[in-house]
Amino acid sequence: MRVRIVTIFPEMVQAALTYGVIGRAQEAGVLDVRAVNLREFTEDRHRTTDDTSYGGGGGMVMLADPFRRAVQGLTREGTIDHIILTDPQGEPFSQAAAEKLAKSDCLVFLCGRYEGVDDRVRRLVATDVFSIGDYVLSGGELAALVMIDAIARLIPGVVGCTEATAQDTFCGALLDYPQFARPAVFEGVPVPRVLLDGNHQDIADWRRFQQLDRTRRWRPDLWAEAELTMRDLELLAGVHHSDL
Ligand SMILES: C[S@@+](CC[C@H](N)C(=O)[O-])C[C@H]1O[C@@H](n2cnc3c(N)ncnc32)[C@H](O)[C@@H]1O
Repeated sequence: MRVRIVTIFPEMVQAALTYGVIGRAQEAGVLDVRAVNLREFTEDRHRTTDDTSYGGGGGMVMLADPFRRAVQGLTREGTIDHIILTDPQGEPFSQAAAEKLAKSDCLVFLCGRYEGVDDRVRRLVATDVFSIGDYVLSGGELAALVMIDAIARLIPGVVGCTEATAQDTFCGALLDYPQFARPAVFEGVPVPRVLLDGNHQDIADWRRFQQLDRTRRWRPDLWAEAELTMRDLELLAGVHHSDL
């Protein structure tokens, strides 16, 4: 997958792309993520990417034309599947959106700054507008990186064990079960006994119950949408306690 991040701070973005899952996926050739300097798509000698807002009010607005030129330039590298504007007013980004976008060959992220981006970018350039949450960041770079991280780990071959992503929080609209590693007792809190006994069916049942119970208690919004199996109902009826 090719991913391009159009930004006035390419160095900030590029540094983050060399670590962890994204860094390894790039080394393996599964992913090619690059920051693109928006200033390279300006025409004036000051490389201007922003201006004052029509109608007044403080703060600067990012110009539409450099974004349009950047996207036109990137189109020459190959077809772009989604041109994503980062925007707190956008559609809330979700695991479902990450799953859909992970099927793409090429994604372009547009990063705003200051008071935001000229609205004509949303109307004329972007194909999708995503927000990573109901709060306002100072720029779209971190939002783009958050989305790219969530998308990249769903591309086959990026995360070592595909089972690991299949059981993650939100897969199937449930939270993930709790995880434990050494030591067996930490600060007086033991690992649940069932995980040490080696009975695979008991472990699977315990984990599923934890997923159901955590989602029911902590995320009633997800719980309302959860599709429960007969086995889930049995687990919920038969187990009346949580070890945590
Ligand atoms: C300071 S914000 C502009 C906020 C804008 N004035 C508003 O209230 O809707 C500057 C840029 O940060 C990015 N940004 C801020 N919050 C975001 C969020 N929650 N999700 C995605 N992008 C965000 C966008 O690219 C935005 O253009």
